[in-house]
Amino acid sequence: MQDICTEVLVVDPIHPEPTVIRRAAKLLYDGEVVVFPTETVYGLGADAFQPAALERIFAAKGRPYSDPLIVHIADERTLELLTTTIPEQAKRLAQAFWPGPLTLILFRGPSVPHLVTAGLETVAVRMPRHAVALALIRTLGSPIAAPSANRFMHVSPTMAQHALADLAGRVPLILDAGPCEIGVESTVLDLCSEVPRILRPGGVSLEALRSVLPDVQPPMRSKASGENEDIVAKKAPGQLLTHYAPAVPLLLFDGPVEAMRASMLAEVHRQCAHGERVGVLVADEDVQVFSDSGALIYALGSADEPAEVATKLFAGLRALEEAHVQVILCRNFGEQGLGLAIRDRLLKAAGGKVFE
Ligand code: TXA
Ligand code: MG
Repeated sequence: MQDICTEVLVVDPIHPEPTVIRRAAKLLYDGEVVVFPTETVYGLGADAFQPAALERIFAAKGRPYSDPLIVHIADERTLELLTTTIPEQAKRLAQAFWPGPLTLILFRGPSVPHLVTAGLETVAVRMPRHAVALALIRTLGSPIAAPSANRFMHVSPTMAQHALADLAGRVPLILDAGPCEIGVESTVLDLCSEVPRILRPGGVSLEALRSVLPDVQPPMRSKASGENEDIVAKKAPGQLLTHYAPAVPLLLFDGPVEAMRASMLAEVHRQCAHGERVGVLVADEDVQVFSDSGALIYALGSADEPAEVATKLFAGLRALEEAHVQVILCRNFGEQGLGLAIRDRLLKAAGGKVFE
């Protein structure tokens, strides 16, 4: 891929400047890709109805065509362009959670490009709640297909600098609206099976979804090479543990808090004795335990506030990577609320292995 000049434009996250939005929308209209903020993570967008532009997303990320894209809309009526039928469940969920971090899997309409759906009969749709994303979709006058704006296999960007680090020279424009509010990607919910099931936990919790649809099922547990892999591969492309290979190995620790800290600390000492540079991702409450351990410490907030931890998680992983640690040790943050999404991302980074 030939290097292009990447421009970064600062934009107001609440009242985006119309001149900036028009610049970005013009690029999209002309078949280019643009990095833009959403409330979850930064996205790498293209006009969902221009196949040549969609190809540029895959080229810039180095992403395989087998991984389908989420279509971002600004108006529920756009659903009619994308799907054949809008189930009652979708209407109720949209009413409760849109605009917001919920992606619905629906049966695709005939005009949705194959590059968006990876050849599946279904399409992923969400209405983001970031003013910049909504203004961009409206000004373009077409839905925007966008994956997270990172290189394939890397963690999602929650700041414009993260997207620049991954995509400089590969995209013409990055809109910088500051850090993302939520910090983990949207929840992907399958509405095309007998029961609604979460394919990827994310910004809308299982508990919140169940307050609207009580029969929502949690994600299937996919072990490192588990029996569910075939089903997961078919229903949730892009969600396999084996699709992730973090730049730095991550060891995830579990168990009662005191025992978990003790085994993390013992592992820090063991690794340091081998001359390894060790990073730890911990809660604020753990910092003191590791302060003289020799590890580089990144605190993600209180373990009782998973929503706060979520906002810092990807920045923490990137910060330790950039500090050139050779291994990252991370504690567990539970499964309540956004904890489920945090655990999913950490498990993927850890290749599915957990130290009890
Ligand atoms: O928060 C988010 O969802 C961000 C922002 C930019 O909106 N986007 C995002 O996109 O995380 P991406 O491409 O990194 O992850 C989308 C995932 C895919 O990996 C795939 O697993 C799932 O959504 N997906 C997309 N279309 C699907 C489909 N038709 N059936 C099942 N899963 C699908
Ligand atoms: Mg992604």
